[in-house]
Parts: sequence; structure tokens; C-alpha cells
Amino acid sequence: MGKAIEEIARQRGHEIVLKIDLHNAGDFTAANLQKADVAIEFTGPGSAFNNVMKCLEYGVPLVCGSTGWQDKMEEARAYCKQQNGCFLYASNFSVGVNIFFEVNKRLASLMKDHQDYEIQLTEIHHTAKKDAPSGTAITLAEQVLERIPRKTKWANHISDNPEELEILSERIDPAPGTHKVKYSSGIDDIEIVHTAHTRKGFALGAVLAAEFLKGKKGIYSMKEVLGL
Ligand SMILES: NC(=O)c1ccc[n+]([C@@H]2O[C@H](COP(=O)([O-])OP(=O)(O)OC[C@H]3O[C@@H](n4cnc5c(N)ncnc54)[C@H](O)[C@@H]3O)[C@@H](O)[C@H]2O)c1
Repeated sequence: MGKAIEEIARQRGHEIVLKIDLHNAGDFTAANLQKADVAIEFTGPGSAFNNVMKCLEYGVPLVCGSTGWQDKMEEARAYCKQQNGCFLYASNFSVGVNIFFEVNKRLASLMKDHQDYEIQLTEIHHTAKKDAPSGTAITLAEQVLERIPRKTKWANHISDNPEELEILSERIDPAPGTHKVKYSSGIDDIEIVHTAHTRKGFALGAVLAAEFLKGKKGIYSMKEVLGL
């Protein structure tokens, strides 16, 4: 993702003043970071929280796309408020997926009282992906749970518990990311699907988010960036 983001940022006329990866972690200092108008963080589940906290501590507006660290998200948001900082997290930066999120919310609202339909989410990604279910699938599941009272939590396996919303994770190569939400009854099925063809959509969305954050304070989402 770092390489894809760098390419798109340069194409859009931006300068990359600092690049950090595992090989030069020592360059991640306040003085170096503060040369940037905005930081973009895509590392992984084990490192995201520390990186986010450091960027907020150093007072640099931050776009974060690392998934798999939801358990620490509220702590990061609270620290952002305490620091009067600027933070945007998205489980998925692509324009298409953010439109898909809105369709998912609308469909869930329509299906709220239709108890005959069982609901299942499926996500398909490449085998190198470290977390399961995907952050995007968790967002989709949370949107369904907020609207359909007969489901109270998600489970990342086939489940006999009618209160659990199943998220099935498949890992195959190559797969930049597919997400399905399916409502099935004995009479018919309704299915919505988003399929990413390349990772460029995620990178473009992250750069659009960075452009949006420049000079701002507060906590934002892609909904605001894309005006959805
Ligand atoms: N939100 C989205 O739209 C979206 C899209 C694609 C991927 N992702 C997520 O972004 C993350 C990165 O994905 P990727 O495919 O680029 O992974 P990757 O493994 O290809 O690249 C991760 C990079 O982070 C660096 N890194 C790891 N730990 C670090 C640390 N502690 N400090 C500094 N650098 C560190 C590595 O050196 C590497 O260059 C994953 O969590 C993935 O799920 C999110």
C-alpha cells in the first residue's frame, strides 16, 4: 500500500518528505514527522496503534488504513481529542466500498423486520492478509448489527446461534478484496457484492483523505471526505 500511495500522491503533485518502514524505524522522530502536513499509516495490526499514538503525540494530522486493531480504536480517538489532534481511520478507502457501505445500511434497514431471511457476510482476500475477518467486513457487520435487532454480535465462523451474524473469511490468490452480504430465505435471496480489481482505489482514497485533513482538527471518516 505504501508504494501505491506514494505513486498516487506524486501524481497528484504532493511531495513525500518522509517514508518509514521496518528498516528505518529510527527515523520516526517528532522533528522528521513535523516536516509533513499529513501522515498516512498503513503498516498492519501489530504496529498501527503505536504509530497512530506517536503521530497524534507529535501533532501531525493522520490518515490510518491499518486494519485488525479495532480493540484500541476508542483509546486512539480519545487521545486525539485530548491532544486536539486530527485523525481519520477507514477500514476501506475505496470510493466504491464507501458507496457500498451506504447501500448496506439501507438494505439492512429494509430487512429489519423480515425475520425469514438469514444473513451471512463473506470476505475474500489474498493469502498474505494478516487479519481475519477483514476490517471492511467488520464495518459491514457493525452496520447490520446496528439495524437488525435479531442479530447481536458477529462470529468469524459458521454458527448455529441465531443471534450471531456469520462472517466467513476465504483466503485465495490473487484477490485484492471481495465482500458479499447475503440475505437468504426459502423463497429467494438478495445479495450485494463489492469486488476490488486493484489496490489503486484504496491508495487514491487515502490520498484524498490526506488532502481533506490538511489544516483541520477533529475526527473524520470517508463519509465526510466523499460527501456521502
Ligand atoms: N483501509 C484500507 O483501505 C486498506 C487497504 C489495503 C490494506 N489495508 C491494510 O493496511 C495494512 C498494510 O497492508 P499492506 O498490504 O501494505 O501490508 P505490507 O505487509 O505489504 O506492508 C506493510 C509495511 O509496513 C511496514 N511496517 C510494518 N511494521 C512497521 C512498524 N512497526 N513501523 C514502521 N513500518 C512498519 C513494513 O515494513 C511494510 O513496508 C494492513 O493492515 C492491511 O489490512 C487497508
